[in-house]
Amino acid sequence: MSERIQPVKGTHDILPEEQGVWGRVRDAAAAILPLYGYREIATPMFERAELFERSVGVATDIVEKEMYTFADSKGRRIALRPEGTAGVVRACVHHGRLRAYPLDKLYYLGPMFRRERPQKGRFRQFHQLGVEAIGEASATLDVEMIALLTRLLSACGVGRIELQINSVGCPECRPAYRDALVAALSERQAELCDDCQRRLTTNPLRLLDCKVPTCGEVTASAPEIVDHLCDGCRDHLAIVEHGLAELEIAYRFNPRLVRGLDYYTRTAFEAIAEGLGAQAAVAAGGRYDGLVAELGGPPTPAIGFAIGLERLVTLMENGAGDPPLPLFVATLGEAARHHALKLVEALRTAGVVVEMDHSDRSLKAQLKRADRLKARRAVILGAEELATGEATVRDLLTHNQARTPLAGLAARLIEEERP
Ligand code: HAM
Repeated sequence: MSERIQPVKGTHDILPEEQGVWGRVRDAAAAILPLYGYREIATPMFERAELFERSVGVATDIVEKEMYTFADSKGRRIALRPEGTAGVVRACVHHGRLRAYPLDKLYYLGPMFRRERPQKGRFRQFHQLGVEAIGEASATLDVEMIALLTRLLSACGVGRIELQINSVGCPECRPAYRDALVAALSERQAELCDDCQRRLTTNPLRLLDCKVPTCGEVTASAPEIVDHLCDGCRDHLAIVEHGLAELEIAYRFNPRLVRGLDYYTRTAFEAIAEGLGAQAAVAAGGRYDGLVAELGGPPTPAIGFAIGLERLVTLMENGAGDPPLPLFVATLGEAARHHALKLVEALRTAGVVVEMDHSDRSLKAQLKRADRLKARRAVILGAEELATGEATVRDLLTHNQARTPLAGLAARLIEEERP
């Protein structure tokens, strides 16, 4: 036998058994996003590397260390997209959409690529559902965006998240904060990790979320950006907080929340979930008012977020799991199988999700399969049931069972299973 070819580290297959839960995410997106006026866009999985250098930023981990970059046959530097926002903005500018759609509301779902150290919840190819609203500066849009994120997560059964928000300021107020931060941290430079010593000159705000404990101690007493915001950014933040309170969306203000991408201005947020271990952010986003102009378009404010779908799916599997199967029909013998076929087809016609067993296996083996499918009830049909004209219906949770006439059985089951 030849040696097996291993998958590339940090990649994973999505097998048929897992497609159900991914389908539920897609269904939730397709049901909810149009309510808010978002339409789907698909941009290429590879772009000129320069696009990400200019948007995500050359001094970020993503661009510095994690991008899959290669030269094409003409020597142009190409990168597999590490995120979706830059490509969407490039597409809007390229197609002149900003004139046609003063507020362009777009979403996308697809793979992203980052050469990170793989660990639980962190992959080298992962998927995002991203949402971008391009063309509006108002802080109430930020509130709507966060409401949309929480609605999407709860539609997927993920209600228990901690929403964290912060303001990362704007080009007017950030430089002064940056200087204050560098001044404060330079005094204790020797205590910082190697990466942070470098970041102190390249990207000092990133020091605030370094996971190395000694860096955490050093930055604990560092100045906070919230105390350095200009009037415009402070007012913006106040409206966002007020709006979230009005919509009763719980959040924690985290003055140390900084994002790993350089394009953010003002509102930044993350949804942190229990049960994901170290990689706890299931979604993240924020405002990026300077990015469209940075990529050659007219000055245009924008905001968006992306949900990490592997993390979302893990939460769904840990929690609700696959939707339970309402009904399973176990059959004993050929005649019972024929009877069952008519029954399940009638149920499906009425929209009831049902599975029947076509095998000749023992009842025990069939009910085991029903358990694996998380069926709530099983209808048992065998020669005896056909002879007496009564089926057995077993509750698979309580194991209670009852006999019920075969005549009119389909209609009764449809009635009972109606939502
Ligand atoms: P991000 O925070 O880099 O933001 O990624 C968003 C989400 O993608 C993360 O919260 C996480 O759930 C997931 N994610 C990121 N890296 C990985 C990985 N290596 N493995 C698994 N999941 C991962 C962005 O990408 C921005 N484009 C979001 C945005 C949209 N901001 C404005 N619009």
